Amino acid sequence: MNTSRLTRLFLMLAAGAAALLAACDKKAGKPVDFVTEVRPLLEARCIECHNAGLLLGELNLENRELAFKQRAKGPVITPGNPDKSPLFLVLSLPEGDKKAMPPTGHRIAAEEMALIQRWIRQGAKWPTGPDGVVRAVGTRSPKGA
Ligand code: HEC
Repeated sequence: MNTSRLTRLFLMLAAGAAALLAACDKKAGKPVDFVTEVRPLLEARCIECHNAGLLLGELNLENRELAFKQRAKGPVITPGNPDKSPLFLVLSLPEGDKKAMPPTGHRIAAEEMALIQRWIRQGAKWPTGPDGVVRAVGTRSPKGA
C-alpha cells in the first residue's frame, strides 16, 4: 500500500469516526420518539376519555390531525412551547385541581411529565399514518399496524 492510499484510508476512518460521534451526540440530546415513548403513555392513560366516542374536553387524541384540530378553547399542543400547551400543563397541575389530568387513577410519573415537556419543546413530532394512530389498550395488532 502506498502513502496516498494509506492517507485515503485514514481519511475514511476519520470520517467514519466523526459520523459515529455525531450520532452519539444526538442520542445524548435524546430526541423523544413518539411511537416508543409518547404513544404508549397516551394509550395507557389518556385515550380512554379522549377518543371520538367520548371526546371529553373537546379533545380527541386518536391521531395527529385530530389532536391538532382547532377547538373552541384553542389548541392543546403548541409545538416548541410546552408552557403554551394544555396537553403538558394539565399534567403539571396540582392533584385535586379539577383540570388536572388524568382525572381518575394515579397521576402520571414525573419522568413521563418531563418526557411530554421535552417532546413538545422538540416540536411535538407526531407521525401521520399508522405509526401515529393512538389506540385503546389491547386493540393494537401484534404487528403494530
Ligand atoms: C377519565 C377520563 C379522562 C382521562 C383518562 C383523561 N382525561 Fe383529559 N379531560 C377529561 C375531561 C372530562 C376534560 C374536560 C375538563 C374541563 O374542561 O374542565 C378533559 C380535558 C383535557 C384537556 C383540555 C384542557 C383544556 O384546557 O381545554 C387536555 C389537554 C387533556 N384533558 C389532556 C389529557 C391527557 C394528556 C390525559 C392523559 C395523561 C388525559 N387528559 C386523560 C377526561 C379525561
